[in-house]
Amino acid sequence: MVLGTRALEKMAMSRVPFGGVFAGRRVFVTGHTGFKGSWLCLWLHELGARVVGYALAPDTKPSLFQAMGVDRLVESHLGDVRDFDRLSGLMRRAKPEVVFHLAAQPIVRLSYRQPVETFAVNLQGTVHLLEAVRRTPSVRACLVVTTDKCYENRAGRLLTETDRLGGHDPYSASKACAELAVSSYRDSFFPPAQFGRHKLSLSSARAGNVIGGGDWAGDRLLPDCMRAWARGAAALVRNPDSVRPWQHALDPIAGYLHLARRQLRRPKAHAEAWNFGPASAPNVTAAEIVRAAASAWGGGKWRTPRRGGVRLREAPALRLDSGKARRRLGWHPIFGTARAVAETVRWYRGFYRERGFDALAFSRSQIQDFLAAGRARPWLW
Ligand SMILES: NC(=O)c1ccc[n+]([C@@H]2O[C@H](COP(=O)([O-])OP(=O)(O)OC[C@H]3O[C@@H](n4cnc5c(N)ncnc54)[C@H](O)[C@@H]3O)[C@@H](O)[C@H]2O)c1
Repeated sequence: MVLGTRALEKMAMSRVPFGGVFAGRRVFVTGHTGFKGSWLCLWLHELGARVVGYALAPDTKPSLFQAMGVDRLVESHLGDVRDFDRLSGLMRRAKPEVVFHLAAQPIVRLSYRQPVETFAVNLQGTVHLLEAVRRTPSVRACLVVTTDKCYENRAGRLLTETDRLGGHDPYSASKACAELAVSSYRDSFFPPAQFGRHKLSLSSARAGNVIGGGDWAGDRLLPDCMRAWARGAAALVRNPDSVRPWQHALDPIAGYLHLARRQLRRPKAHAEAWNFGPASAPNVTAAEIVRAAASAWGGGKWRTPRRGGVRLREAPALRLDSGKARRRLGWHPIFGTARAVAETVRWYRGFYRERGFDALAFSRSQIQDFLAAGRARPWLW
């Protein structure tokens, strides 16, 4: 039977996003004070989940966490993932059914300055999380967020989930280590083949560089531009030729929600690693992103560093193959690169230029726009 456009639209409108699995569900999120964590918490709140968050206090001013008032949407606890007793005690009391682990030291350049801390937070912190989950019998689905940088990069070819893990800089290597920890816990304590003897589906998610409103971390392309342009300065673009799988934060976060939903429904089949990258892995350079952002901003200047300084190595090209998530989760990126840049700049323009800008209401409306854009493919939600 072929459905007409009206019928498809009606079907989509009647659908509850993500099959309604998060409504009333207890969810534990680490890293809820961060950029992606704040977007995830807002979305989970919109879906009716009861969220408990655990992370350090936001380390940027401003921060998305404060701008949206995320502490009013979730039960927020400030603490360190290196403090196992605190993390584990809180998780046991919270009795979550779903756990999203996002807490990390996520900046490549900072990892060169603070390698020990980066490994401690990203590796030991992940092991603490996994051990806390092991001691919390209520958990049914746990999703550990790593990165596309966890692969041993092979000169720009498409990276699939079976590619070898590795990483040159301490950040990438620490995330590859986190992946190994996940796979060791899965094999040792939660093997999918023995589901029934245990009740946990354990997965990891590898997404590319994300952009979106409300990121103020240092050493990130669009936050650097927005900060500079808001004060009328030229932005410093370190690696204009770098090719990255740029995507809007809502795209991989939708992927995490799709995956967790499937883990709850078909736990055995989804306890694996998953890539979430842009649609056709376009060859978009940092310079092209900056040009698009400058035009959406209404004219922003930028420059590249002077030659001669020490250049820290960053992978020149990363391309993710997300075919597995498309085929088996039904996940599809919704915002293409151009729309991702436009939506991101719209958010910052509102923040910096509109009096009385309501970050929470605006971010909510962007989630609604995202869902509406996805309704062209009604099977998505
Ligand atoms: N932003 C990206 O482009 C990108 C790309 C791929 C993967 N990721 C991954 O997504 C996750 C979230 O990244 P983000 O961009 O939101 O970063 P972010 O810096 O905005 O947030 C990091 C979060 O981790 C928390 N955190 C850091 N150290 C901690 C500690 N010792 N104990 C407890 N909490 C701690 C922070 O408080 C914050 O809540 C990270 O795991 C990151 O590696 C991000």
